[in-house]
Amino acid sequence: MRTRVGIIGAGPAGLTLAHLLRLHGIDSVVLEARSREYVERRVRAGVLEHPTVELLREAGVAERLDREGMPHHGLSLRFDGADHRIALTDLTGKSITVYGQQEVVKDLIAARLDAGEPIAFEVSDVRPHDVETDRPYITYVDADGTRRRLDCEVIAGCDGSHGVSHTVAPSATHAHDYPFAWLGVLAKAPPSHSELIYTHHERGFALHSMRTPEITRLYLQVPPEERIENWSDERIWDELGRRLTADGFTLTTGPILEKGITTMRSVVTEPMRHGRLFLAGDAAHIVPPTGAKGMNLAIHDVSVLAEALARYFGEGRTDLLDAYSDTCLRRVWRAQHFSWWMTSMLHQAPGADDFQRRLQLSQLRYTATSTAAATSLAENYVGLPYK
Ligand code: FAD
Ligand code: PHB
Repeated sequence: MRTRVGIIGAGPAGLTLAHLLRLHGIDSVVLEARSREYVERRVRAGVLEHPTVELLREAGVAERLDREGMPHHGLSLRFDGADHRIALTDLTGKSITVYGQQEVVKDLIAARLDAGEPIAFEVSDVRPHDVETDRPYITYVDADGTRRRLDCEVIAGCDGSHGVSHTVAPSATHAHDYPFAWLGVLAKAPPSHSELIYTHHERGFALHSMRTPEITRLYLQVPPEERIENWSDERIWDELGRRLTADGFTLTTGPILEKGITTMRSVVTEPMRHGRLFLAGDAAHIVPPTGAKGMNLAIHDVSVLAEALARYFGEGRTDLLDAYSDTCLRRVWRAQHFSWWMTSMLHQAPGADDFQRRLQLSQLRYTATSTAAATSLAENYVGLPYK
């Protein structure tokens, strides 16, 4: 089998890339380790930056997003038991949209299948080969157990942080571990507030988010080695209630539909290219979720890659492909700093002393009361312009 672009991974990066390439008339094959049901159900990100929404609209895959997505014009920083609203739209003219990552994934899968282009789900033993030559190829075993070879001109490694692509590229990695994790729950309960609430509390960070007017998404800071078995639904609601307490606020509760623990890391792979292999999304970089940047960065990477590949296949120009890694890494490092800053300001580090907590509270107060500081948070949160 032969294609121009072999795409490993059908997450937001791989699926968006396949879609953008099709709009440019460039054929691709998408290889995904999991089943369609699994990737469509995997609960992860929920916040789309303004430029991400614009890109999905321009690409013609935002019809349901525009109907069902929830535009948000502000968020709350909650500390000392009170809310301090950051007026995102007043400060930047832009908004964010709350729309589940798996909904974006569903829309992109539907668009590809409707266009008659397949996705090879449930493949295994995927391996990129000869990426330093101009005849790279991928070997894999398809869902029927047949061993296959896919010859490509370019390989896009969009297979996330546990994928195979980043292990092929001998790039340098810059990493930072955080001494905490997030316990996330999806609950059948209407949101308790119309906006997201990022809470600084002496018992640890908590986040109130949502998916729909009926479904709440909530997170609690927990130790990195914490096990989900230790958290009964009752204990989760009890802890959320303690941390999210504020005057006039009542936490709505309901059946917990899903719960899980995610560790937090910052990782950057430099460069994001090795010969004909281009890394995109979590395969190249991971951010802690506090800045809500991971999926947005994944989509930015592939928008840069799709345009560079269109120039390459259309006009034989290599300059945009050559600049791919540097172009993406500029945005990646900005997002790394923003995510680290939000994380450091809001979480309780084990062993942190009173001095550090007072610095956090001072930073929170300054961010909430200075227009300059609030604007800095807001412009990063809604997403800096692509160009
Ligand atoms: P992935 O979504 O990981 O997709 C990679 C795909 O490749 C997967 O489908 C995987 O099954 C497949 N794959 C893996 N290995 C192979 C292989 N060997 N062969 C073939 N296929 C393979 N980001 C935000 O922007 N906003 C948020 O609000 C946000 N909140 C988050 C909350 C949590 C709790 C977590 C965990 C993450 C959050 N993120 C958020 C991050 C976001 O989910 C990721 O950054 C995003 O999924 C990256 O997309 P991707 O396509 O690069 O990788
Ligand atoms: C989410 O809704 O899942 C979410 C929102 C904001 C974040 C992270 C996750 O910073």
